[in-house]
Amino acid sequence: MEPRRMIPSEIFRFDIVDSTNDRAKEMLDQDLREGAVIVAARQASGRGRYGRAWASPPGGLYLSIVLRPKEKKVQLLSLLSGLPVVRALRGLGIEASLKWPNDVLVNGKKICGILCEGVYRHEAFWAIVGIGVNVATDIRRLPKDVQSDATSLRRELGKDAEPESILENLLKEYDNFYDSYSHQGPERLLTEYRGLCTTLVKPVSVETAKGRISGTATDISPDGALVLERNGKKVEIFEGTLVRA
Ligand code: BTN
Repeated sequence: MEPRRMIPSEIFRFDIVDSTNDRAKEMLDQDLREGAVIVAARQASGRGRYGRAWASPPGGLYLSIVLRPKEKKVQLLSLLSGLPVVRALRGLGIEASLKWPNDVLVNGKKICGILCEGVYRHEAFWAIVGIGVNVATDIRRLPKDVQSDATSLRRELGKDAEPESILENLLKEYDNFYDSYSHQGPERLLTEYRGLCTTLVKPVSVETAKGRISGTATDISPDGALVLERNGKKVEIFEGTLVRA
């Protein structure tokens, strides 16, 4: 018999929501169990990192997983949440990899973005892990400035994948990943991350709140920072967007 899975504890499906992350937060105001998953066929105001919009036309997979992690921050969970997505895509025979912090790439183009947010509700800390995957997404329906850097499962497989089985596989991988993250800690997952991260070891520039920082990306620190070496010195970057890789 398969062991009982924590994710999904329950699945809520919608045709359209503003953002599955926002809907998850609203539903937490009432009552939501850890492991709950919110899925929508479309989002009217999908959100990306740093307040950017996440275009969410039909054909994409938009979901949020509701978790109650032990540590009251989402940084490492956010970084490592790309791993189960990569594992699920590799299970389909697609050579997926990671771009720091948590973009999932195939052939150098983005197929999935992750927005992980922490919230306090009912005197507890919750993490909402929002995942957007271009499944059968028509890339021409994405904003012009991201089209040339985006791809979809349909494009990479050369045929349509069954959306329900993608969701099922993704949740199974996330459940395995989260079990290991919560019970064994992040060390082995960080090693797996470093092996799948195309950002290492390369010259990069990162746009941060303090401006652009350039150097050679040499490692990911145990707490999830990108380690850059420049002029013989090491700099750790916790938040930022890679602008050249
Ligand atoms: C990024 O790459 O900037 C992150 C994109 C995250 C998109 C997903 S889609 C499901 C969930 N709901 C949202 O509004 N955003 C995340």
